[in-house]
Amino acid sequence: MKIAVTGGCGFIGSNFINYICRKHPEYNVINLDKMTYAANPLTLQMLRKYKNHSFVKIDIAEAMEIEQILENCEVIVHFAAETHVDRSLQNAENFLTTDIIGTYRIIEAIRKIKVVKKYIHISTDEVYGSIEKGSFAEDARLNPTNPYAASKASADLLVLSYIRCYKIPAVIVRFVNNFGPFQHPEKFIPLAITNAIENKKIPLYGNGFQMRDWLFVEDTCRAIELLIDRGETGEIYHVSAHQEKRNIDVLKKILALLGKDEKLIVSVPDRIAHDVRYSLSCEKIEKLGFQPARNFDDGLVRTVKWYKENQYWWTFIKNSDEFQKYYKNKYPSL
Ligand code: DAU
Repeated sequence: MKIAVTGGCGFIGSNFINYICRKHPEYNVINLDKMTYAANPLTLQMLRKYKNHSFVKIDIAEAMEIEQILENCEVIVHFAAETHVDRSLQNAENFLTTDIIGTYRIIEAIRKIKVVKKYIHISTDEVYGSIEKGSFAEDARLNPTNPYAASKASADLLVLSYIRCYKIPAVIVRFVNNFGPFQHPEKFIPLAITNAIENKKIPLYGNGFQMRDWLFVEDTCRAIELLIDRGETGEIYHVSAHQEKRNIDVLKKILALLGKDEKLIVSVPDRIAHDVRYSLSCEKIEKLGFQPARNFDDGLVRTVKWYKENQYWWTFIKNSDEFQKYYKNKYPSL
């Protein structure tokens, strides 16, 4: 089987390629990535060890040759997106281009080439906005509260329209917060781990009582594999491991694992329109047989270990001019 993966050098995309290439040496995986700031070239180096992986540097929002590249692919898993909420609050334009136009180019290619049997559209719990109690079902109202979430909600709506108008074989899958190896250190958990290793202050937004529901990235990969096989086209699926944690509690766990002092935690001004809690009901995918394999503590131990053992990977990002500028501008008090 030939699978195209967009955004295969990003966090979840690279974990998925790693997982699928190892598990299915008979698959042929083609990785399409623009190599933005979010894609570490060292990740690509790691993926190049797989003989069944090939790489094309491409901006899916620009490229007209996308149809030729996807021509023989039976499955497309579309991760490519700008994903960091805070960056979308600084400048939303890239989010609209990559997340919406990028998706448009992919589904338009699918409509034209007609060979794709399954299109897995990767989305997020953020499209529903915050929920105080209970969980959102798959047909809940979209209510994005930041430009990133709005760009993802727009892409989802576009995909739904293509399902209805052109019957493209799409499956939309909305995940809760992922964590694990190869996550960019601009995000909460890797930023905390790497700052703690470096004995640097760790920024906590507001009081840290916001809740996120954490899913280890390998479980995400398993869910996608399941949906490639058994997901019904035209359907939306939610994926979570039902592991809600307050941000402050996550930080305390990380510091305990690293044997560092909680004094490293520093409260910084809160994110604009910060969603307090996300939660998804996941019966649909659970009925297909999905059960997460890793609990939060186990996943966190593995994640901390990976960042300890792969300092070259994240120092490459943290020492870059791009990251230094971003960090100083974002956390001026640190
Ligand atoms: O919920 C799924 C989403 O999870 C994905 O769609 C997004 O692409 C992904 O970035 C993530 O969004 P969050 O905004 O939840 O992730 P982030 O790692 O930026 O923040 C997690 C929580 O930690 C959030 O409540 C904000 C807080 N935070 C974050 C950073 C970067 C801090 O307290 N301090 C920080 O420095």
